[in-house]
Amino acid sequence: MFNLSLEILRDLHEEHAAMLALLERLEKLLAAHGPGDPPDAADGDTAALLDELATTLGEDVTYHYAFEETHLFPRFAQGFDPGIPGMLQQEHELIRPLAGRLVALVAAAKEGGFSAESWGQFHATGRELVEREVFHIQKEEMGFLPGLDRILSAEDDAPLRAAYAEIKAA
Ligand SMILES: [Fe+2]
Repeated sequence: MFNLSLEILRDLHEEHAAMLALLERLEKLLAAHGPGDPPDAADGDTAALLDELATTLGEDVTYHYAFEETHLFPRFAQGFDPGIPGMLQQEHELIRPLAGRLVALVAAAKEGGFSAESWGQFHATGRELVEREVFHIQKEEMGFLPGLDRILSAEDDAPLRAAYAEIKAA
């Protein structure tokens, strides 16, 4: 594993790792319960996973994505190659509505559990989300964060961290 010198990039790396761990738990739930076999949404582990999806996944596609799009994609495009951030941006635009749909299905399940129909929707959306988001994070980890670590200097760290804190506080 590479060493990132900027703290802001290490923070993003940690958010990626947390998201991958969450997606792995989601994948396990989807594997244990096929599309026609809704789990009990009030069961301890399932309820905890649903709560975390509502918060962590919701934050990922708002704050994390917004920060990358506003502050990092333009820097990468200037410093290296506009193709890569263009592709990552397109992936954000595909993943954002999937995450929104999944979070809405979680909210409904917290109210009244999963019906066969809502679980079928959750299953299909969840599978597509896991597939796309895992691949997306792998790409950012392999090329994007290490590339930024070369483009950015130590003086960029504090202003970028402040900008991210501001997005999260908004
Ligand atoms: Fe990211």
